[in-house]
Amino acid sequence: MDWGLENRLSKTIKPDGKCFYLALDHGYFHGPTAGLENPGLTAAPVLDYVDAVFVPRGSLRATFDPKMETPVILRVSGGNSLDREDITDEEVTVAIRDVIRLNAAAVGISVYVGSENEHKTIMALSKLVDDCLDYGIPVMAVTAVGREEEKKTAKYLGLACRILAEQGAHVVKTYYCDDFEKVTRGCPVPVVIAGGPRTENDLEVLEFVYNGMQAGAIGVNLGRNIWKNDSPIGMARALQAVIHENATPKEGYEIYNTIKNAK
Ligand code: 5RP
Repeated sequence: MDWGLENRLSKTIKPDGKCFYLALDHGYFHGPTAGLENPGLTAAPVLDYVDAVFVPRGSLRATFDPKMETPVILRVSGGNSLDREDITDEEVTVAIRDVIRLNAAAVGISVYVGSENEHKTIMALSKLVDDCLDYGIPVMAVTAVGREEEKKTAKYLGLACRILAEQGAHVVKTYYCDDFEKVTRGCPVPVVIAGGPRTENDLEVLEFVYNGMQAGAIGVNLGRNIWKNDSPIGMARALQAVIHENATPKEGYEIYNTIKNAK
């Protein structure tokens, strides 16, 4: 692996081989989601606990302090909106020169395997990988399902993860599901667990992260279950313990409650 690529990867995957990414990219197709009106302000209290933030260039420039030390994974795909029925119509929206200008440690792109836009989004990924390899920039590819929640099965996610890895993604982000080990086993590059809407209770988040990592994932890329939580710091610190300190979900939950109740 080239030195620059390895150096950038080491910024977002820590020496223990694990990672904790905070997703704040939703605005690129959700618009001003509640809690994420100002992503920089939302992220500020938990930056010390996470290994990278996943953000689009608009809110990065407008709301994050350029002096921050947390590495940036730049969301570089878009072109869709929640206002349409079909939200799978994405392309790469950022030139490689702007990725470099923003000093991104990696980039992230959504790919919609099995959708109307399967071919377009897979080709966008492979072109992005080629462009990024020229400059030693890692690519995180997301197995996006659009509105088709029923796709979150090991069979579909295993297929999608493998395809994204074969196109050259350095890391694949996908959803936790039953038989998750089948997904990680068939994917030749590291797998990061994606989030989703708020879970019914806080322990559930720590459980699916713990179980996903036991099944082979190297970490998470979570958004709403952190920044929509009553105690974002409590949840971020608890996740950090589960991801990097081998804490069980129960131990993580104790950390969460201690911080939450200390307020
Ligand atoms: C949206 C994304 C988000 O980064 C991902 O869904 C994580 O955020 P959340 O945990 O809120 O779902 O890729 O396409």
